[in-house]
Amino acid sequence: MIVLGIETSCDESAVALYDTANGLIAHKIHSQIETHIPHGGVVPELASRDHSRFTLGLLDNLLDETGLARTDIQGVAYTAGPGLIGALMVGACLGHSLAWALDVPSIGVHHLEGHLLAPFLETETPSFPYLALLVSGGHSMLVDVLDIGKYEVLGETLDDAAGEAFDKVAKMLGLPYPGGPEISKLALSGDPTAFKLTRPMINRPGLEMSFSGLKTQVRNLWEASPQTNTDQANMAASFEMTICQTLALKCQRALKQTGRNQMVLTGGVSANRQLRAVLDEVCEKSGVGLFYPCPEFCTDNAAMIAYAGTQRLLFGERADAALEVSARWRFEQA
Ligand code: KG4
Ligand code: ZN
Repeated sequence: MIVLGIETSCDESAVALYDTANGLIAHKIHSQIETHIPHGGVVPELASRDHSRFTLGLLDNLLDETGLARTDIQGVAYTAGPGLIGALMVGACLGHSLAWALDVPSIGVHHLEGHLLAPFLETETPSFPYLALLVSGGHSMLVDVLDIGKYEVLGETLDDAAGEAFDKVAKMLGLPYPGGPEISKLALSGDPTAFKLTRPMINRPGLEMSFSGLKTQVRNLWEASPQTNTDQANMAASFEMTICQTLALKCQRALKQTGRNQMVLTGGVSANRQLRAVLDEVCEKSGVGLFYPCPEFCTDNAAMIAYAGTQRLLFGERADAALEVSARWRFEQA
């Protein structure tokens, strides 16, 4: 079965074709960064407009390049939430109408389920159950992944998501949006011990996270510093190290609590080299196998939506005739 995946939940329009026999056929992403850069962040209305302008053309290019026709599509999976409501509507309308026109089944996919299952796009894959750290622009959570559709959230952020913290700190330091990769690049030339930042919530038991206090600490120290290029690199490195060590500590706790021997690191922030290095060390020490998607499947993409949707379609799940998307969609209800 060949399944088309469509992702339009935020600022990337993406399409992918997944074949149950041979795995991922191909995928394409149109990033809206250029549209949003002048505004310093994502503008929802502009995001929806860009999705309507680019997604169908992206699909046509994908079909041309793979030598496939629309009629080769045997199922459609689209992101149905959570995300920006207008942006979600564009992908869902496209997916739903294509499925109607082709008379094939369709399914609305939970965006976070896509991230959680993204490591299955790689050659070396985990097996159920595993512990996952999902860190993106909108979410930070530790999840016990028991099976497809069986997810137990063990802890999540009480305020900002990890990616949001990267983006906000980057903005404070005068770096462009999206800030995560910028901080990461700049941190390479900085001293991570230059600014003394405290790791948030580590003295409190449990798996909850909070990053807004860390952001305030950064603001205060940054405003009190001479703000030279060296300070900027040092702050990027100090912030990155603090957030990565905090996440690693929460992972250590969650591994101990669940006794899992496999861990998945996923979501946009999982593209961060420092986070991968710190978690590699934690997992190696505790004999836990660590899996992460390749960088292009860490950030938003349609391959993960096609994969997750394919699993749901294989179970016989189908979208209702009425189009449904949800800006806020609790994970456990997916
Ligand atoms: O998963 P994603 O593409 O979108 C959401 O579902 O939110 O994640 C985007 C987030 C942004 O906050 C971005 O700054 C962050 O992931 N990000 C990074 C890196 N690459 C992307 N954060 C830290 N280091 C990176 N290398
Ligand atoms: Zn995402």
